Amino acid sequence: MTKVFVNIGLSLDGYLAPEGMTLEHWAEPGYKDWGAKWGGLMAWLISQQVMREKLKFGPGGETGPVNDMVRRTFERIGANIMGKRMFEQGEASWPEEAPFHTPVFVLTHEPRDPWVRPGGTTFHFVNDGPERALELAREAAGTRDIRIAGGADAIQQYLNLGAVDELEIALAPVLFGGGRRLFEHLSEPGPQFRIDRVLDGTAATHLRYVRP
Ligand SMILES: NC(=O)c1ccc[n+]([C@@H]2O[C@H](COP(=O)([O-])OP(=O)(O)OC[C@H]3O[C@@H](n4cnc5c(N)ncnc54)[C@H](OP(=O)(O)O)[C@@H]3O)[C@@H](O)[C@H]2O)c1
Repeated sequence: MTKVFVNIGLSLDGYLAPEGMTLEHWAEPGYKDWGAKWGGLMAWLISQQVMREKLKFGPGGETGPVNDMVRRTFERIGANIMGKRMFEQGEASWPEEAPFHTPVFVLTHEPRDPWVRPGGTTFHFVNDGPERALELAREAAGTRDIRIAGGADAIQQYLNLGAVDELEIALAPVLFGGGRRLFEHLSEPGPQFRIDRVLDGTAATHLRYVRP
C-alpha cells in the first residue's frame, strides 16, 4: 500500500526554515544569518555519502546507519509534492539535475507548463489544490511512496487533510528563534502519531512517527 510521508529537518525550537530565508534575500545568506542557520540544520544530511552523490559534490561522505536510512528514503519515493516557495528557492539553487529523480507536483496559484530536468525530475504545477496534487502523485508513484517535501504551508495542508501516514523528522540541535514554524495552523483534533523509530546521528536525532 502506497504511503504518504513527510521527511524534513527541524530546528530544536520547531522551525523548518530560519527567518530571512526567502527568495528576496537569497543572495544575502548573511541577512539575519539565515545561511549559517540553514547550514546548521542540514549539516547532517549534506555530509552523507548518498547526498553528496545526488548533489554532485564528489566522492566521500559518511556511510553507516544514517546514510543507509537516507538511501532507503530516496529509493521508496515515487513522487514528491512541494509548495511553490520551496520550489522557487530550489529553482534558484538546485543543480541542473534536480535531486528528486521523480515527478514533482508543485502546489501553486500560478499556471505554468511542466519543467523537465535531466535525470528524471519533472516539475508539474498544480493549480487545483492539495487533494488534486495527491491524486496526481498517486498516479505517478505507482507502487512507490509519496513524499510531502515541504515547506510548512504544504505540510500543514496535508496534516489537516489527514493524509500523512508517516512523519520523519531530523531534529537538529540548532535554535532559530524565528522563521517558518512547522506545527501551526493545524485543525483540531490534530493528527495522531506513535513513535516508530529513533536513530541517533552525530548532527541530528532521526525521529519517525506513524499512525497509531
Ligand atoms: N527543513 C526542511 O527540511 C525543509 C523542507 C522543505 C522546505 N523547507 C523550507 O520551507 C520554506 C518554504 O515553506 P513555506 O511554508 O514558506 O512555503 P511552501 O509550503 O513551500 O509554499 C507555499 C506556497 O505554495 C503555494 N500553495 C500552497 N498551497 C497551495 C494551494 N492549496 N493552492 C495553490 N497554491 C498553493 C502558494 O504560492 P503561490 O500562491 O505563490 O502559488 C504558497 O504561498 C523554504 O524556506 C524552504 O527552504 C525546509
